[in-house]
Amino acid sequence: MNDATFDQLRAALREMRGALRTNVPLAKLTHVRIGGPAACLVEPFAEGDVSMTVRACRDLDLPLRVLGGGSNLIVSDQGVAGVVMMLGSLNRVVRDGNRLSAGAGVTLPTLLSGARKLGLAGLESLTGVPAVVGGAVKMNAGTREGETFDHLCSLTVVDRDGEIEVRDRTSLSPSYREGGLVDLIVVNATFDLHEDSPQAIYDRFEANLQRRNSAQPVTERSVGCVFKNPTGDSAGRMIEQAGCKLMRRGGISVSAKHANFFVNDGGGSFADFMDLADQVRDRVLQRFEIELAFEVQVWD
Ligand code: FAD
Ligand code: EPU
Repeated sequence: MNDATFDQLRAALREMRGALRTNVPLAKLTHVRIGGPAACLVEPFAEGDVSMTVRACRDLDLPLRVLGGGSNLIVSDQGVAGVVMMLGSLNRVVRDGNRLSAGAGVTLPTLLSGARKLGLAGLESLTGVPAVVGGAVKMNAGTREGETFDHLCSLTVVDRDGEIEVRDRTSLSPSYREGGLVDLIVVNATFDLHEDSPQAIYDRFEANLQRRNSAQPVTERSVGCVFKNPTGDSAGRMIEQAGCKLMRRGGISVSAKHANFFVNDGGGSFADFMDLADQVRDRVLQRFEIELAFEVQVWD
């Protein structure tokens, strides 16, 4: 972003509460630690400031992306033009009876442990998903035990014109790993939970975590599953059967523990990741005649 454009953006956002920075490295903000800088990173303080940012980007014709926990993202080594918005300041959780409303920047571990302490059950299926609420809703993050939309009753969103709206669950059409939001930005989500003892909730957390830890390379740098599962099968199983386990391109390799995870041993690049993904997709296509589709979101 050149200085003149940045000055225009700063002027348009002079009343916005929050931070505005240029040329901010994104790699450290992603789980897999890959990617160049964001031309501009905006961290609005509250919902109205998100709205102001959306309007400013629309008026200046600047591309706008939202970064959540960065756990399902692969960013180009050149970085991204335009504005990246982070919603970490939207971090309040409010209880109303059996409902919990959480800002888009609340991490799932914070939400889940808060729910457990309050004796509110339902979100245990999301144990171990390293997301924030906005990213979990956008992706309809889930496991074999359940997904984000299972207990979602409403969302507060900002639309492309910066209008803040409340959307009922029934007006949304989520599917597997897809919240169906198109270009809506999530600023808050309300979950309808049910009462249970904190100990019973904790026991389910523990069981889910143990299952995950034994099956996935959770201590390594990855994007989680790279590809979606084809209906009725597991991409991990297919990748292993196609002989791809431990394949490597530069600093990125197919995990020995779970073949749908690609891990970055420290020096991996965007090009390495995409090259490996192409090779794996080709081998699975040859072996099974099924073309795997990315679950990972690509910013290039
Ligand atoms: P990001 O990765 O930052 O962004 C993902 C997408 O959401 C991007 O398109 C971004 O623009 C968009 N987005 C983010 N915030 C908002 C917002 N407020 N409004 C609108 N759009 C937004 N996923 C699963 O589903 N199940 C799993 O079991 C699972 N396990 C994982 C394990 C590991 C070790 C890792 C690294 C990842 C795993 N994932 C899993 C993938 C990932 O955690 C999920 O896709 C998660 O939902 C991404 O959330 P995030 O906040 O990190 O979003
Ligand atoms: N398998 C292999 N080899 C492998 C990996 C898996 O043979 O390398 C086999 C397993 O032995 C098992 C079957 O494939 O028989 C299914 O494996 P697993 O239970 O690990 O589930 P998955 O289908 O690979 C899905 C989700 C995960 C989620 C887990 C647990 C997708 C793409 N993956 O994995 O979500 O955590 O179930 O619920 O839907 C993600 O989306 O990023 C993610 C990690």
